[in-house]
Amino acid sequence: MARYLITSALPYINGIKHLGNLVGSLLPADVAARTLRMEGEEVLFICATDEHGTPAELAAREAGQEVAEFARREHVRQREVYEAFALSFDWFGRTSSAANHEMTERFYQKLDENGFIEERTIRQFFSVDDDRFLPDRYVTGTCPHCGYERARGDQCENCTRVLDPVDLIGPRSTISGSERLELRETRHLFLNLGPLAERLRQFILAHEDWPRLSTSVALKWLDEGLRPRAITRDLSWGVPVPREGFRDKVFYVWFDAPIGYIGATKEWADAEPSRRDWRRWWLQQDDVRYIQFMAKDNLPFHTIFFPGMEMGSGEPWTLASYIKGFSWLTYDGGKFSTSQSRGVFMDQALDILPADYWRYGLLAQAPETDDADFTWERFAATVNKDLVGMFGNYCHRVLTLTVANFGAEVPVGGVPGALEARLTDDVKSSLDAYRAHLRAFEYRRAVQELRRLWSLGNLYLEERAPWRLVKQDRETAAAVLRQTLNLMRVYALAAWPLMPAAARTVLNGLGCQDDLREPRYTGAERFHALIGGESLMPFPPLFRRLDADEVAALSARYAGTGPS
Ligand code: 2FM
Ligand code: ZN
Repeated sequence: MARYLITSALPYINGIKHLGNLVGSLLPADVAARTLRMEGEEVLFICATDEHGTPAELAAREAGQEVAEFARREHVRQREVYEAFALSFDWFGRTSSAANHEMTERFYQKLDENGFIEERTIRQFFSVDDDRFLPDRYVTGTCPHCGYERARGDQCENCTRVLDPVDLIGPRSTISGSERLELRETRHLFLNLGPLAERLRQFILAHEDWPRLSTSVALKWLDEGLRPRAITRDLSWGVPVPREGFRDKVFYVWFDAPIGYIGATKEWADAEPSRRDWRRWWLQQDDVRYIQFMAKDNLPFHTIFFPGMEMGSGEPWTLASYIKGFSWLTYDGGKFSTSQSRGVFMDQALDILPADYWRYGLLAQAPETDDADFTWERFAATVNKDLVGMFGNYCHRVLTLTVANFGAEVPVGGVPGALEARLTDDVKSSLDAYRAHLRAFEYRRAVQELRRLWSLGNLYLEERAPWRLVKQDRETAAAVLRQTLNLMRVYALAAWPLMPAAARTVLNGLGCQDDLREPRYTGAERFHALIGGESLMPFPPLFRRLDADEVAALSARYAGTGPS
């Protein structure tokens, strides 16, 4: 039996994330965790805020706060939003935790012992006007590969190429905008994963089942050659470097961030040391399947850099078993932009609609193989057609019909016929397909199958027309409505990973025996769990429509203040 370790890319501390971040790692990771838990698997779902590095310092500076205080507050803010989105982390930690400092030092020591760390003198941009060395993200300029004008010194977010600040055309200081930059000599530590290139290639090639996106980014990076990369920075906020001559520097954020998955697991264990052991997930554990979720710009770090660090440490760390990379979700044809208030951020989303709408609407068009574009029109069409028209409408019709004709309980009596047997077969195969897509982390396909599952119920209702049948053959109508209520329960179970609130409302309304905090698929009897006589608690329609006026108003409100 495998156990599942699931991680979502660790969101940067600098501000509430947008819908693109949600669908590109946090949400699919949560759906995976919920899916596997309800299938009865043992799951540990870990996330944390990624708190070090220049983004944190820059954002704290902008907010006029000390960076430690800024990080503390923003961590709480993010945690609250994720809770409101029903992201079911077993632990939501911080890369600035003592546990992560400890893990980072451990990795550094081991990598150093094994000869993967080198000291080098480099020429680095010194900003005369800011009177300091500029770490790579503190340098902005034009990407030499794609011409993007606001490329950062570490990576171009447009073409995802990893960069060196000296590669940038027209470099300037991100702090002051000053172009008075001089290249001066300074010493840094470098991580040289070159000797592991072949082992890393074998690691990637051994995983034929990964999405092509993940493998192709990894192989491209390997083909370009693994250059030694600086892992220290001239900053004060971060994990201090435990080495003479480097005491005024900290580790590069991308060094301690992936270690943060382990650090956060240790935080989780430290919270209840008598019951939990982080090593049980991370060291020498052949039965752990480790599934990672992230957007494509994170792929090089997770397919090469982090596994390389794990291998280079010489310790038997758990390596990723599956890396699910996502393309971009764009917003109405352009980028989400904090500075231009363009697009919807997670806190704003919840002011508009409850989490379930977003969870479903976003996964329905998850950017799995290609980029996907969020438009309000498409989102509203999905909500109106799928959630209101299929799932919500089915539940509402069935409940109303039952209560009107049999009172608030599951009808008793009547004998199911051939149509019911066929429906059960069809539902079973559709549900199996749906579960298989979810277990394969294929979200668009899962949503397509879920729609098919909903249409089976709606077609059956039309075919059996219980509103007529009840007048001619009350007994059979009772059997039919009982069947539809049982199907409603199946719908609630199927909805759980995607729409936990709606699922809970339905299960609660049906008076089922299912655990409302963590329902499970319970084997063959699941299609006829309700035998008749259970009390029903009718609930209002699960979803509401988004009409054209509202869509127009929302499009205008989140269009942003400038060109993307
Ligand atoms: O791109 C990002 O949002 C990073 N903060 C992801 C880090 S993932 C992990 F390695 F920490
Ligand atoms: Zn570029």
